[in-house]
Amino acid sequence: MNGLPQQPGHSAIYPGSFDPMTRGHLDVIERAAAIFDNVVVAVVVNPQKREPLFTLDEREAMITASVAHLPNVEVTHFRGLLADFVRGHGATVIVKGLRVVSDFEGEMSTALMNRSLSGVDTVFLPSDPRWSFVSSTLVKEVYSLGADVAKYVPPAVLQVMQAKRNATRPAER
Ligand code: PNS
Repeated sequence: MNGLPQQPGHSAIYPGSFDPMTRGHLDVIERAAAIFDNVVVAVVVNPQKREPLFTLDEREAMITASVAHLPNVEVTHFRGLLADFVRGHGATVIVKGLRVVSDFEGEMSTALMNRSLSGVDTVFLPSDPRWSFVSSTLVKEVYSLGADVAKYVPPAVLQVMQAKRNATRPAER
């Protein structure tokens, strides 16, 4: 699909908060699935940064629906150290997407720490330019302010976002 030979025996972990998954995340998963034997999308239970908007079940369900066309991709979750999860899973590579140059600094030290802790290297996939400005945080912000985000998230994610907004919409005054 991408011209690269599949890496035999490589089991990749793609970790993240996925609060929610974006089309950029999906693009990285599709490209990783074309390179590695199998890809495990690992949703962190409690993101470090802030309380997630979507529950763990919602985040996992949105990803599972969005990767249904990829037979070598599975979705699960982890808590605690990524390095422990990676080792326990017998994964041989961690995959991360890089959207912009400023992502690199943090991701570089994280990758080195994860390698130091687990012996497993991180492979960076550059974001497709179509999605390089799309983050979960921005998607949530513009959606909460009334913008249409159908371009930025897979359909299964849009459905859940709409349902959540309808459920939490305050009574009209
Ligand atoms: O989608 P995100 O928020 O960029 O994902 C960040 C994630 C989940 C990959 C990162 O926070 C993580 O690995 N958390 C697990 C805790 C951990 O291992 N911390 C040490 C990293 S060196």
